[in-house]
Amino acid sequence: MAEHIFEHNDVQLAYSLFGSGPPLVLVHGFPFDHTMWTPQIVRLQASCKVIAPDLRGFGRSTLTDADRDQGVEMRQYADDVVAVLDKIGVTSPVILCGFSMGGYVLWQLASAYPDRVRALVLCDTRAGDDSDEARQGRLTMAEEVLQAGSSELVAEKLMPKLLAPDTRENDPSLVEQVEGMIRQVPPAAIAAAQRGMARRPDVRALLPQFDMPALLLGGTADAISSPEEMQAIAQQMPSAEFVEVPEAGHLTVLENPEAVNEAFADFITRLPS
Ligand code: MLT
Repeated sequence: MAEHIFEHNDVQLAYSLFGSGPPLVLVHGFPFDHTMWTPQIVRLQASCKVIAPDLRGFGRSTLTDADRDQGVEMRQYADDVVAVLDKIGVTSPVILCGFSMGGYVLWQLASAYPDRVRALVLCDTRAGDDSDEARQGRLTMAEEVLQAGSSELVAEKLMPKLLAPDTRENDPSLVEQVEGMIRQVPPAAIAAAQRGMARRPDVRALLPQFDMPALLLGGTADAISSPEEMQAIAQQMPSAEFVEVPEAGHLTVLENPEAVNEAFADFITRLPS
């Protein structure tokens, strides 16, 4: 593994590289960093060049005061991912994989840079925008976390939604791991992402234009992006398939990594070259 950081406009962007083969970009969800993909990196680096960025504010990437105060648009995160690809000289189309907020980022990337996309893998994500209530909840969390100066309250609020009830009951070490990951996120990154997600566009009308091969994955007990919602997205995309991940809630990639890795590896093997 090699971790890298470079200056890009007003921020520092971090990414890690693993393995060799066709390029595969893993875009993490909220409120995590690239390490949420560890089980997939371990498996897929044998057959792919895995590129795992930290979105601005998360992991070792930084953000600006304006990002914190105004929020980071999903398009800005997408531009940053493309900046990472440019930095490492990957200009050919790549397999792009996004988890939840990472999926919101990929919709923007695939719209703005269709030539950079070979295939999409979308895990536990949504295509619609927020209800007024959900939007207000994000803005409130942004204010509260900045005021508190710690991400503890974010862990408390999100944990019940992230993991399936079975996982919460039977896998205390994963519960502890996920809580620990959330607690270490800077409050400014939480505020920036929540304010940005609150403004994210509804892309449902665009789905038929995303005609690249696509794999959609959703946990059976996902309380944030239900399997039904994921399946409905797949039905609108001309070349998409949906796989339901058993024994998992929202955090499929950590709750049932074996099933996710199998689906990933099988999809990648079948991609036209
Ligand atoms: C995520 O996992 O990235 C979040 O659940 C996305 C969201 O808050 O909508």
